[in-house]
Amino acid sequence: MRVKIAVLPGDGIGPEVTREALRVLRTVGEMSGFEIQLQEKPIGGAAVLEQGSPLPRTTLDACLDSDAIFLGAVGGPQFDSVPKEQRPETGLLQLRQALGCYANLRPAIAYSAIADCSPLRASVVKNADVLIIRELLGGLYFGEPRGMNAHSAFNTMTYSESEVERIARVAFEQAGKRRQKVTSVDKANVLETSVLWRKTVSRVGREYPKIELEHLYVDAFAMHLITNPTRFDVVVTENLFGDILSDEAAVITGSIGMLASASIGGSVDLYEPIHGSAPDIAGKGLANPIGAIASIALMLRHSFLMDQEASDVEASIRGVLEAGYKTADLARGKSTAVSTSEMEALIEQKVADILHRRQAYHAV
Ligand code: IPM
Ligand code: MN
Repeated sequence: MRVKIAVLPGDGIGPEVTREALRVLRTVGEMSGFEIQLQEKPIGGAAVLEQGSPLPRTTLDACLDSDAIFLGAVGGPQFDSVPKEQRPETGLLQLRQALGCYANLRPAIAYSAIADCSPLRASVVKNADVLIIRELLGGLYFGEPRGMNAHSAFNTMTYSESEVERIARVAFEQAGKRRQKVTSVDKANVLETSVLWRKTVSRVGREYPKIELEHLYVDAFAMHLITNPTRFDVVVTENLFGDILSDEAAVITGSIGMLASASIGGSVDLYEPIHGSAPDIAGKGLANPIGAIASIALMLRHSFLMDQEASDVEASIRGVLEAGYKTADLARGKSTAVSTSEMEALIEQKVADILHRRQAYHAV
């Protein structure tokens, strides 16, 4: 097998975490006998500086011509007051839209080995494992009309039945592979879009009688997520709620640096850690590569149907954390922290060990 991957390192810590995570992918490729062809292209602020656009045509073409896309992060303070078309974030939004990837999967796993890294009580977060499914192409992010006058500004929140239906289906399918529960998050006591959302999710839910479905208002959910995270399995919600709630979910894992994401359902799937470009720590070896490495695991699972290898990468992350290693974000100022590349090397070594042992086992 040969896989073609478009690599978009982006800004800030994006280049360092993608570089590290790709080492893990290369090791998996070498040991499992698939060939990896990488094509690196600029996006975000890097692309604006280089080519005057946050999503150059050549970058989009490389993405459309790939089997999967791996992105680091976009954004930076020097772009804070530039026009919208020149913002790094615009490049990412245009890419999502051009690909048509409407379902954004964001697993938040509170590994018990680092349960004490969360500011929440370890007993509360321990073993929480929530999959947030964020609708990625609708709602306020893309709704028209939108605009700004001298003294007012407006955005539009719209959802069609079919947009809700397709994301609901992703949620029920994923819950079927997990703990059989979907929590749908909306604001149906106030918003019409949420009334439609709730009605549609319930209708789709009737096709999945084995999956338990609950509806929660977004304000109440935001509270339950950090007071009782283990009660949730799959959570499905609209674009902006999902953006906010997935950052909140990062708190239960100990660090935003832990979270991976997969944006699926379009012509090519897009994988990226959910953290931002963190310009303040860029280039210092302080970034946590686990979100990026866990995104590689999602790529193996969803794009290359290599479920075993994906689980091996995840088991390696767990193993290294259980051995007590932490990057600076998790170690919280302690001098024992390992660097970005040290953390990667530990995980890569563990993946190699696991794959080696399995191959030796199958050889006898
Ligand atoms: C995310 C980010 C993006 C979003 C930004 C960079 C446009 O915050 O992926 O969560 O708001 O979707
Ligand atoms: Mn976000």
